[in-house]
Amino acid sequence: MANINFGGVMEEVITSEEFTLQQAREVLANETVAVLGYGVQGPGQALNMRDNGIRVIVGQREGGQSWDKAVSDGFVPGETLFPIEEAARRGTIIQYLLSDAGQVARWPVVKKCLNEGNALYFSHGFSIAYKDQTDIVPPDNVDVILVAPKGSGRTVRTNFLDGSGINSSFAIHQDFTGRARERTLAVGIAVGSGYLFPTTFEKEVHSDLTGERGVLIGCLAGVMEAQYNLLRKHGHSPSEAFNETVEELTQSLIRLVGENGMDWMMANCSTTAQRGALDWAPRFRDAVTPLFNELYENVISGVETKRVLEKNSAPDYRQQLQKELDVIKNSEMWQTGATVRSLRPENRKAL
Ligand SMILES: NC(=O)c1ccc[n+]([C@@H]2O[C@H](COP(=O)([O-])OP(=O)(O)OC[C@H]3O[C@@H](n4cnc5c(N)ncnc54)[C@H](OP(=O)(O)O)[C@@H]3O)[C@@H](O)[C@H]2O)c1
Repeated sequence: MANINFGGVMEEVITSEEFTLQQAREVLANETVAVLGYGVQGPGQALNMRDNGIRVIVGQREGGQSWDKAVSDGFVPGETLFPIEEAARRGTIIQYLLSDAGQVARWPVVKKCLNEGNALYFSHGFSIAYKDQTDIVPPDNVDVILVAPKGSGRTVRTNFLDGSGINSSFAIHQDFTGRARERTLAVGIAVGSGYLFPTTFEKEVHSDLTGERGVLIGCLAGVMEAQYNLLRKHGHSPSEAFNETVEELTQSLIRLVGENGMDWMMANCSTTAQRGALDWAPRFRDAVTPLFNELYENVISGVETKRVLEKNSAPDYRQQLQKELDVIKNSEMWQTGATVRSLRPENRKAL
């Protein structure tokens, strides 16, 4: 464990220097990690652990694309790939990586499969922190732990393959065995975390729900659309509006922000851009603050999780979702995006 200064605030973090992969292998030497769910996080974490020499099995309902994907990724039915219930029975660390609504639906079955001393592992605080809505209350005789990668399961895998990592938070809700912390850190390192930082199940879910509804996806999508619509309304072409709103961001500026920070970006853009950005940033900040306050209140009060469980458990969930997604996909803005992407030199070469 290292104490690191984050802008003046000291925080505990763990990297593979403080807790090595070799240590992780030793802690997990007698464990079988059962990854339940082969959606987005499941494959990333399962494949990274397998490549790191950990005994991994996958539990996935049969007959769908996810089962086929597990097979094509080298998991062998009857040996390392099982129906959910059987994998849950065989594992000693049970990684519950079904969708959050799926976790609620399958809990009665998974709960029955837990043996004394098992660890029940989550990558989101949702199921435990909102137990009043999910009814997921683990038995007292298991560890309940969390490692939550702060990125898509896809980048959990691709960053690992590139020799990089995704930072993850970790938490221990219940330590029955006395080994909960070492198990958590071992899995956190084995799934390829860049660094691990401590949280609680509650803090993880509150920040995560805020982040994805806010800057990471929801707010970003909303402000992009607002700017695109504004430019279109004033006679700018789709190409101009899209390049000025999305393409320049994703292909240039946000990469520089990722590498160097927004402070550097502000200091290294044209003086004209700089003056405007310095003037307008506080105005945008103040304009969205009331909306962010409302968002955080809805997260804390359980309004957001209630909506997720209701919507995602509906029998026609996939059809309704598809309708909403199609509206975005078929909009002029994102159709323009598809065309702009197809014109990137690397994509033109592929044609
Ligand atoms: N997406 C991310 O990158 C990400 C990032 C950080 C944390 N997390 C957390 O990781 C966990 C897994 O998320 P995810 O995004 O990987 O989920 P997902 O892609 O939605 O995964 C769905 C998985 O759950 C299965 N499933 C869904 N409903 C089911 C049901 N009723 N019965 C049985 N299986 C069911 C799916 O099987 P089928 O394919 O057969 O439907 C699939 O294997 C969640 O707690 C999430 O909050 C996700």
